[in-house]
Amino acid sequence: MISIEPSILSADPLAIGEQAEEVERCGVDTIQVDVMDGHFVPNITFGPRLVRALHNRLKLRLDVHLMMVDPDRLIKTFAEAGANRLIIHQEASPDLYRILQTIKELKVEAGVALNPGTPVEAVEEVMQLVDVIQVMTVNPGYGGQDFIQSQLTKIKRIRKMLDENNLQKPVAVDGGIDPATAPLAVQAGAEILVAGSSIFNHNGTVAENIKALRDSLKGTIKEGN
Ligand code: DX5
Repeated sequence: MISIEPSILSADPLAIGEQAEEVERCGVDTIQVDVMDGHFVPNITFGPRLVRALHNRLKLRLDVHLMMVDPDRLIKTFAEAGANRLIIHQEASPDLYRILQTIKELKVEAGVALNPGTPVEAVEEVMQLVDVIQVMTVNPGYGGQDFIQSQLTKIKRIRKMLDENNLQKPVAVDGGIDPATAPLAVQAGAEILVAGSSIFNHNGTVAENIKALRDSLKGTIKEGN
């Protein structure tokens, strides 16, 4: 199952609620909320108040991607605000294992994300603990950047690492996903496609853009099956 996960970072900031409802009407079951603290990445975006507002308004699952240093300061707050999944970065804290354990204790799905420069081995020790491993296919911080092709090898290696350990957990990709790169990511082994600017833009409606992404995957076979 390949799931398309719209990132509302690229949505119209004055119409996030409406645009999220548009996404919901397209049969998407999860949206990604990119939280940036201005330290881990050179940008500042959303906080727990938006997560709660979306949680109260939508049936969609909320995948909250924490691009912040020391995420443990706020994971309980985001969990209580309605996050269904919390993704933290491997690079964000020396306390990765403990923070992931805490997320699981909060009965929320846990994910770990790797920046383009971070090797696969950096998450080997937490692969049993997490529910998803997210490969950043752009340098985190902004939407609308180009897909970093070299990360396709990393997707394959993480998929292989999980399979060799009999772990049926999805690999997610985030950044530069569009109808041209989505099939490449799926062929490499990705099952969750986070997409922002290819869904929220002036070239088409949210429904048309999601359809274009889905159509690009028709006939795409994951390598190896
Ligand atoms: C970037 C964010 C991404 C971003 C994706 O740091 O984590 O989710 O919104 O946007 P596009 O799809 O435009 O690269």
